[in-house]
Amino acid sequence: ITVNGQIIKKADCKIDENADKIVCQNTPVTYRKYAYYMLNKPAGVVSATIDNTADTVISLLNGVTDKDLFPVGRLDKDTTGLLLITNDGELSHRLLSPRKHVDKQYLVGLRSPLAPDHIAQLEEGVDIGDDSKTLPAKVEVLSELQIILTIHEGRFHQVKRMLKAVDNEVLSLQRISFGPLTLDPTLNEGQFRELTAEEIKLL
Ligand code: URA
Repeated sequence: ITVNGQIIKKADCKIDENADKIVCQNTPVTYRKYAYYMLNKPAGVVSATIDNTADTVISLLNGVTDKDLFPVGRLDKDTTGLLLITNDGELSHRLLSPRKHVDKQYLVGLRSPLAPDHIAQLEEGVDIGDDSKTLPAKVEVLSELQIILTIHEGRFHQVKRMLKAVDNEVLSLQRISFGPLTLDPTLNEGQFRELTAEEIKLL
């Protein structure tokens, strides 16, 4: 191991991670403070770091050695799709802040077709039993039983409760985008990849 070209044998060698050049067996070692992963969450795992009863999203990151990773927000156990996993607490805080209104898009499988009036209600905001109505959402009808719902908040079970409020039921739920990130179509459920430099910049 060399630091700025000098072979180092002392374990207590102090380095400046931004300035010093570290090489280990001829391979440069670069420093990064935070790690960012996109996971295509499968159903059946929980959005937590530890759980006594089910696999967690963190346990799916095989081969990853970064410390202190956690999911940014939660998807229900039966929800699939885009989940950001990081150890950057400040970014997570920013993305989850209710004041920031980060867009989230969900592909929703419905129990029954949505009437025009129900679409209008979802787009205006519905009473889901909280202190205030949901913020206006966007509904794109893909077929009789499939919509894309775009919301700007992240309340508990929000999509399921919104559809319940218009006498419907969510039969399947997949998150397809989160802020500027879009679910990578090459990731099968359970697969993950690091965010690109471009995606990190967008966040
Ligand atoms: N809304 C829900 O109801 N569940 C999720 O997992 C995400 C959004």
